[in-house]
Amino acid sequence: MKQFNKSDIKTLKEIMLLRRDVRGNRFIKKKIDDKILDEILSAANSAPSVGFSQPWKFVIVKSKDKRDAIYKEFEKENTKAKKIFKDNEVYPRLKLEGIKESYINVAVLYEKPKKKVLGQTTQKKMGEYSVVCAIQNLWLMARAYNIGVGWISILKPKNVKKILGIGKEYKLVAYLAIGYVDEFLEEPELLQIEWEKKKSLKDIKTL
Ligand SMILES: Cc1cc2nc3c(=O)[nH]c(=O)nc-3n(C[C@H](O)[C@H](O)[C@H](O)COP(=O)(O)O)c2cc1C
Repeated sequence: MKQFNKSDIKTLKEIMLLRRDVRGNRFIKKKIDDKILDEILSAANSAPSVGFSQPWKFVIVKSKDKRDAIYKEFEKENTKAKKIFKDNEVYPRLKLEGIKESYINVAVLYEKPKKKVLGQTTQKKMGEYSVVCAIQNLWLMARAYNIGVGWISILKPKNVKKILGIGKEYKLVAYLAIGYVDEFLEEPELLQIEWEKKKSLKDIKTL
């Protein structure tokens, strides 16, 4: 049985603490080697999943036309979001995506089960939660390779699926921008600009 040591723990902690959500103002034009991309996707593929169903599917989007179309969708949705945050002068200045600037986009899908899934008989969302576990693995492994990931959620899944030609047997869980960066911020940007505060361990409840 493999035993991890203090140095491994320190590294894991650093990868976790220094993982950032990366937006378009940080991505640089540098190719990601196919082998490294495979390592990152393999990390995602090793995530825990309900009934070992591994219900994820990754669609790599390189096409400029498709990305331009997705970007238009983002602009449409963000215009609505700007109205929602109309009393906040910071919101319109935030860069909230990196669709065009990143090396690749990755649509992460949930494949609806074709057979009964062990553990998913009571709580139907467990498959989708498993996909999120895969995304977190991907995010951390990318950071270990000094590659940035940004999750873009200001998009209508239905429209993204249409642009990418994705069938109704799949649900869009995440749309990611992935690429090398000029810098990883030490702290979340939204913490730095005091949009939100960091949650303290005091919030944990013991029963
Ligand atoms: C489910 C999810 C959706 C997110 N959607 C967006 C988004 O649409 N645009 C954006 O700029 N950041 C998005 N983020 C990034 C968060 O703002 C970011 O994770 C948070 O501020 C903490 O910063 P950090 O990831 O750099 O630690 C999303 C993150 C998650 C987990």
